[in-house]
Amino acid sequence: FSQHYEEKIRPCIDTIDNLRSLRVEKDLALPAIAVIGDQSSGKSSVLEALSGVALPRGSGIVTRCPLELKMIRTKDEEKWQGRISYLGKEEDIDDPAEVEKKIREGRECLECILRSSKRVYTTYVLYLIVFVAQDEMAGPGVGISNELISLQIISANVPDLTLIDLPGIARVAVKGQPENIGDQIKRLIRQFVTKQETINLVVVPCNVDIATTEALQMAQEEDPEGERTLGILTKPDLVDKGTEETVVDIVHNEIIHLTKGYMIVRCRGQKEILDQVTLNEATVTEKAFFQDHPHFSKLYEEGFATIPKLAEKLTIELVHHIQRSLPRLEEQIETKLAETQKELEKYGNGPPSDPAERLSFFIDKVTAFTQDMFNLTTGEEVKCAS
Ligand code: GDP
Ligand code: NA
Ligand code: MG
Repeated sequence: FSQHYEEKIRPCIDTIDNLRSLRVEKDLALPAIAVIGDQSSGKSSVLEALSGVALPRGSGIVTRCPLELKMIRTKDEEKWQGRISYLGKEEDIDDPAEVEKKIREGRECLECILRSSKRVYTTYVLYLIVFVAQDEMAGPGVGISNELISLQIISANVPDLTLIDLPGIARVAVKGQPENIGDQIKRLIRQFVTKQETINLVVVPCNVDIATTEALQMAQEEDPEGERTLGILTKPDLVDKGTEETVVDIVHNEIIHLTKGYMIVRCRGQKEILDQVTLNEATVTEKAFFQDHPHFSKLYEEGFATIPKLAEKLTIELVHHIQRSLPRLEEQIETKLAETQKELEKYGNGPPSDPAERLSFFIDKVTAFTQDMFNLTTGEEVKCAS
């Protein structure tokens, strides 16, 4: 795997990362992996285990802001570098233990903006135009922001992956949440699962009836053949007695068929977190759990189980996905280029060299600019896109 990785996989990921660092993702859809599932299904736990840093989690608290987790693998064993960014702000994080706190702060800040009055909101929208050139924002107080918090981690112990943690699907609104919170969240999730460039990671606990899982149904609606969907079964230690072989059948892709199939992982439960079991210790426990399990050990031997196997599979899937997306990406770049060229032509040539012509050139520009400003301020509302 290692040699294949360095020769084939790494260059492909570097290409996409270079594109991302040019901030082209605002204009083009780059391949990413979105994690979707019901509340408390174990989404954050899976991301945590893959990234090696503790992420915010809580029972039922629905956050309205997606989190992009960009992991970059380095050969330097000593290195760990984190950076969080949102609303055009960027902050470096030196200590992995700080990550959780910083994400909470970022989310509070974004949620506060969403709740705030229209006046303040408009100021922020203007702020957003400058920094992030958002196409579209939901109305004040009602919308879930599609604005995301981005967390980048450079470390020797992470896989080269970009994952997006989405709010869990809520069935019932809790105190202080709008009635239609469930629909709002689904709309947000749909924005991600609909994209052809997104691999959907659907997280389902072993102790629920998988057929009735809303997340899987949503993914199936958008991706009927399951070509972009990978099922992740969590909490195998909490499986109901007598249903173990059903779980095995699901992982063997015999119940609800997905082209990409399923993986099964075991993460830290609430008690282990209270007991301060580290993520490294959890990896050891996870392996032992699967190896010794009367029903699930075969899944381990077949390579369908554990977080490290999942990381490996995801990296390969992402690369295949990128390779398939490249022609589409090229198409998008061509279209964008043509549009930009047309826009550029609209502005005509630069200032003429003849000093006599320069003044009239300048006056034309000022007139056009003033007209634009006038149209903008008398329009019904200021559109972000303008
Ligand atoms: P999310 O809401 O989908 O992000 O779910 P979380 O990752 O916050 O997990 C919800 C709860 O399930 C937490 O208390 C976790 O500790 C627990 N949990 C997650 N994975 C497992 C697992 O494999 N086994 C057990 N026993 N608990 C788990
Ligand atoms: Na949760
Ligand atoms: Mg979560």
